Amino acid sequence: ESVKNLDETVPSPHRNQNRLTETPSAGTDSFANTPDTDPSTSENREWGRLALSRSIYTQLGAETVRSNKLLGPANLETLIQETCAAAQAWQARGSDVRAWILHEAASALGARRGDLISVMAAEAGKTIAEGDVEVSEAIDFANYYAESARRLDVVDGAEFQPDRLTVVTPPWNFPVAIPAGSVLAALAVGSGVIIKAAPQTPRSAAVMVEALWQAGVPRDVLRYVTIDEGPLSKALISHSDVDRVILTGAWETANLFRSWRPELPLLAETSGKNAIIVTPSADLDLAVADVVKSAFGHAGQKCSAASLVILVGSVGHSERFRRQLVDAASSLRVGFPTDPEVAMGPIIEPPLGKLAEGLTTLGRGETWLLAPNQQGSDPRVWTPGIRDGVRPGSTFHGTEYFGPILGVMHAKSLAQAIEWQNATDYGLTAGIHSLDADEVNTWIDEVQAGNLYVNRGTTGAIVQRQPFGGWKRSSVGTTAKAGGPNYLTHLGSWKSRPLRS
Ligand code: SER
Repeated sequence: ESVKNLDETVPSPHRNQNRLTETPSAGTDSFANTPDTDPSTSENREWGRLALSRSIYTQLGAETVRSNKLLGPANLETLIQETCAAAQAWQARGSDVRAWILHEAASALGARRGDLISVMAAEAGKTIAEGDVEVSEAIDFANYYAESARRLDVVDGAEFQPDRLTVVTPPWNFPVAIPAGSVLAALAVGSGVIIKAAPQTPRSAAVMVEALWQAGVPRDVLRYVTIDEGPLSKALISHSDVDRVILTGAWETANLFRSWRPELPLLAETSGKNAIIVTPSADLDLAVADVVKSAFGHAGQKCSAASLVILVGSVGHSERFRRQLVDAASSLRVGFPTDPEVAMGPIIEPPLGKLAEGLTTLGRGETWLLAPNQQGSDPRVWTPGIRDGVRPGSTFHGTEYFGPILGVMHAKSLAQAIEWQNATDYGLTAGIHSLDADEVNTWIDEVQAGNLYVNRGTTGAIVQRQPFGGWKRSSVGTTAKAGGPNYLTHLGSWKSRPLRS
């Protein structure tokens, strides 16, 4: 069935290899990461400008959003029953056919790279660079899970029985890659999927879903809905025919889902409060660049973002690191991504609650190295903020703000820095900048987080190379790692059984 009312498509960029594509030898043999778009060619810059300029006036995905609004309990019941029925046929098609369709989905997502960047800029304020890597990640998920599914059928003598119905509730901050990853994983194993789009970014998820439909994923197997938060969401999550919910969002949301249905099989990627340690042996120029990118990429609205930098010993005493950090952060142009020079886009909505407090209020002993300011007439546009003197155990040390504010801590030793890095309720990403192998090895042994990064930023995990998922309150109900070799094994049940006769 063809998808109607698609806007004219932004043509594909000129592809070339500006992303490292080597992969570890273990893993899926035929998989290679998709390169991002090379911004150094004038053709690609022109293509990017076209995608951004169109973001203002096109309504990509709008028809899918409009026609899939879930209206009430009766529609919900029909939707669930129809998807369960369609899932049986999807499972029966076998992993080879599904893998083939997922590879087609990868191509379809690539063909709509410009549209996806455009709609993410419009809805989420994502810059070209931030949107581009997200499309690459979505393509990687499609190719990677296609191949993983072929290896699933029997492991350790047990047979895999996929979930029949998966509900995907994605976040707004990665409005394409995260819904794509969750949906593609469930489809790969043979499950039917209902995706409930994030209310802030429904068109981004819709364009992604349209690409999958165009690639041959049946429309009755992959159902897209928008839904009012409240009783209908509760009815969907609580429905006994839903075998699993894949949630990416706040830890509190996972708890809310659990309160609705205590025995809910939940695979939830949740919050983070991530720090990068910088030791005196670090390459400080590299450290500054990585801290700034990790703290202020997408205005800090990533669960993987670094919102603390912990300076060890002399790094904190010298003016150099702090001055470079402030210079680098204050040189970021803020605004809307329709201006291609903008490096930091807006926050998703005017700051409220804890983010408003984090942008305006200092804790005891803290000072602004760089005070954040609301800029221009739109209350969502803020300049980056950096606060110095964050103390262990303080509010800033333990709170996820999800915005463009970085806190600086000063530790006497690496041991103290690691202690502070670990002393939060979360354990998603963690970074160290050090050129001393002993320091790095000690750190790797002691840090309590799911994704460790050495001399690199803490965001932008790459499929297969950095399987993604955290510890403590950064995940609920699972140890699954998205984009890793065992992710799909979490999307069903295992049956040890005698040989079939
Ligand atoms: N996977 C993303 C990252 O690594 C976060 O969800 O930044």
